[in-house]
Amino acid sequence: MKKGLSTEAYKGTRDFYPEDMAVQNYIFSTMRKAVERYGYVEYGASILEETALYEAKTGSEIVNEQTYSFIDRGERNVTMRPEMTPTVARMVAAKRRDLPLPLRWYSIPNLFRYERPQRGRLREHWQLNVDMFGSDTIEADTEVVAVAHAVMHAFGAKNSDFTIHVNHRKLINDIARTFFALDDDASQKLMKLMDKRAKMDADAFEKAAEEIVGDRTGELVSILEARAVAKLPEALLNTDGARELVALLEMLKSKGISNVSFDPTIVRGFDYYTGMVFEVFDVSDENNRALFGGGRYDDLVSIFDVEKVSGVGFGMGDVTIRDYLETHKILPAFTSTTDVYICVLEADVVTFADDVADHLRTSDVNVAVDYTGRKVPAQIKTAEKQGIPYIICIGEEEKEIKQFKVKTLASHEEKTVSWDDLPAFFGKK
Ligand code: HAM
Repeated sequence: MKKGLSTEAYKGTRDFYPEDMAVQNYIFSTMRKAVERYGYVEYGASILEETALYEAKTGSEIVNEQTYSFIDRGERNVTMRPEMTPTVARMVAAKRRDLPLPLRWYSIPNLFRYERPQRGRLREHWQLNVDMFGSDTIEADTEVVAVAHAVMHAFGAKNSDFTIHVNHRKLINDIARTFFALDDDASQKLMKLMDKRAKMDADAFEKAAEEIVGDRTGELVSILEARAVAKLPEALLNTDGARELVALLEMLKSKGISNVSFDPTIVRGFDYYTGMVFEVFDVSDENNRALFGGGRYDDLVSIFDVEKVSGVGFGMGDVTIRDYLETHKILPAFTSTTDVYICVLEADVVTFADDVADHLRTSDVNVAVDYTGRKVPAQIKTAEKQGIPYIICIGEEEKEIKQFKVKTLASHEEKTVSWDDLPAFFGKK
């Protein structure tokens, strides 16, 4: 016999019941407000892309192990987007002649990655993507990091609550290829190892490092432990990467972004980054982890065989930011989008209750009417449980004199308001 269907959401995805949806909406609207303040405008695209888009330049782990891919009925290879950057690069490449550069664009797409679900990592997440195209200056790099910083502040975070770690792909290349004279293959291995360092113990790291840089492991460790560009070996100081990093750090500090520092272990997983890379960390003991990051990618648009359009940006996930807001107790309490719940005392006044509701609705007040015919306490309990802030109980008397007792559920305060004054009570005309 067939058992009942499971009521669970597909593994690694979430259902958003109204209280979770309210949190999600709060997160999105805070993100939107913060980035629009810097002149970023919203764009969108389909969840589905041709698989080939990701084979060109995305980090191989994502493509080989983490994509949801299928063959459609027309034999095309299709992938549910695991990130937005290839899509936005494709969109910019397609219309580069018509688009007035520089572009400041953002989106909040849902993305799919076949990951092992764990704290902060799911199979579907939403990610704020903020990107600037067509500007390859230090000012553009600085702005993108400043926007990331501004989004954190818009959520109520302070500089002491999080840190921004920056590094530079050119510097990483110089460390691997020039300083340690590694070939392509060994350089790739070193980058992957650096990326994993935070999750490894010192012995395991040193053992793996020895296989790549041999007896120069000590030098590698001291480079990775440098927390100021000036502490790098002499030979690395006069490189473009080091110089750009120093300029970036100075510019950020001059903007009051004091919680930023150089971190040579920041690599970031994708192959397309070419310049500055950064990662934002929570500093609290309970949630000491990377929250989000990004960087400069100057060659991604040219994979579409068009002239180069530089890009720089970041991706901020909703899962890690929600964990952050909960850890730091800065998530606003839930209130319903419904302002008023109308309790109906007797069947005869239902039509009048509807009239009151419509009167309020035409003044932009959000109203729901209880049609259940239940006893009043049960109706009030519904409003309370649904987080609706006000109730109005309507019976024969209210119908007669057109005066209403508006009750604030949180404080149990009651105020008598006339028909004409009702909209103004809710701050509406
Ligand atoms: P990413 O580091 O792969 O970069 O993802 C950015 C952020 O999205 C992560 O730091 C995290 O907040 C969130 N995130 C990623 N995967 C998951 C997951 N499985 N579950 C929950 N949250 C996740 C990118 O995707 C780049 N395309 C970002 C970018 C935009 N770079 C330049 N522009």
